[in-house]
Amino acid sequence: MTNHHIALIPGDGIGAEVLPPARRVLDAVGARHGFGFTYTTYDWSCERYAREGAMMPQNGLDLLRDKDAILLGAVGYPGVPDHVSLWGLLIPIRRGFRQYVNVRPIRVFEGIDSPLRTATPGEIDFVVVRENVEGEYSEIGGRLNRGFPDELAVQESVFTRTGVTRVLDYAFELAARRGGRLISATKSNGIVHTLPFWDELVAERGRSHPEVDWDQEHIDALAAKFVLDPARFDVVVASNLFGDILSDLAAAVAGSIGIAPAANLNPEREFPSMFEPVHGSAPDIAGRGIANPLGAIWSAAMMLDHLGHPEAAGDVTGAIAAVLAKTDLRTPDLGGTATTTDFTEKLLELL
Ligand code: NAD
Ligand code: IPM
Ligand code: MN
Repeated sequence: MTNHHIALIPGDGIGAEVLPPARRVLDAVGARHGFGFTYTTYDWSCERYAREGAMMPQNGLDLLRDKDAILLGAVGYPGVPDHVSLWGLLIPIRRGFRQYVNVRPIRVFEGIDSPLRTATPGEIDFVVVRENVEGEYSEIGGRLNRGFPDELAVQESVFTRTGVTRVLDYAFELAARRGGRLISATKSNGIVHTLPFWDELVAERGRSHPEVDWDQEHIDALAAKFVLDPARFDVVVASNLFGDILSDLAAAVAGSIGIAPAANLNPEREFPSMFEPVHGSAPDIAGRGIANPLGAIWSAAMMLDHLGHPEAAGDVTGAIAAVLAKTDLRTPDLGGTATTTDFTEKLLELL
């Protein structure tokens, strides 16, 4: 029987509440399709930081290296500055394992109340492809003249030909497999060095993908169009920071940030890829058992696809659609009163 070895990193807050449901779904669907999972769980978190002074051990990446995939809950909690917790765990994994594509699909499921008056289920179905290892998230910069009135902070954005081209190629190829349309997020009217370069590379890659109908839009106008006319999008490709912001916006448009999944991919498969919900540790609701597990469960479905089980992945997204369309059970972020566990039980029943 095929067996996959998965690294589980529950992390902080609701991260630890949404991973067990995802694991139950994986085991159930694996049993049906004739494959199984071995899990190794790592307690890397802000709690570990408080105890041992580091989010993960020094050889953390070495421990993950031989796993088939990583499933992560969320990282970050009040008490540890976010730049410490995230740069101590999440970002080193993305960068160390060259997970340079972050795929973030958006769908309005039947049975979900989108905050948009105009959103019809089925009509909104697109993917944000986020550059995941460079751009605005850079380590180059610093704080100067600390303690003086002219103190300042600088951080350099880094856009490399290699880094931009490879994520664009992924996005163009994805668009070619989907609806054949791609929008690139830019701001070359305001950010005059990096984004004109990004735009140039988009045009270059566009010439190599004549089957894709592509265009570019300024990020500010694009954000408005996510709200005004989300049905027109197929694939949206964006730099690291723009993609981060757009994916939360898109998730909200689709009903709740609690549903949205993410796949941090190393397309060459030199290293394990990492799957995690788009949302964070949600300290405001942590510990109450009411987190929406769908973001984590859908992320697990993306992992199944990556591991070569598209049919099992389809079963999971089918069960997500079914629990929303056929039942009234909803966690509070979707206007209901269901707990994480009740909701998961019902989904498992429909799987
Ligand atoms: P957040 O996503 O944790 O929460 C934003 C809002 O959405 C909150 O009101 C929260 O209750 C709600 N929400 C999020 N997920 C939900 C779910 N599954 N079900 C129901 N409601 C949900 O974002 P934040 O408040 O900006 O960040 C909190 C912490 O998480 C910070 O430390 C931040 O750095 C971290 N964070 C981590 C990740 C990650 O690990 N990938 C992602 C984003 C934020
Ligand atoms: C995400 C998160 C992270 C990011 C933070 C927590 C560093 O917001 O995965 O979207 O910006 O990448
Ligand atoms: Mn984010």
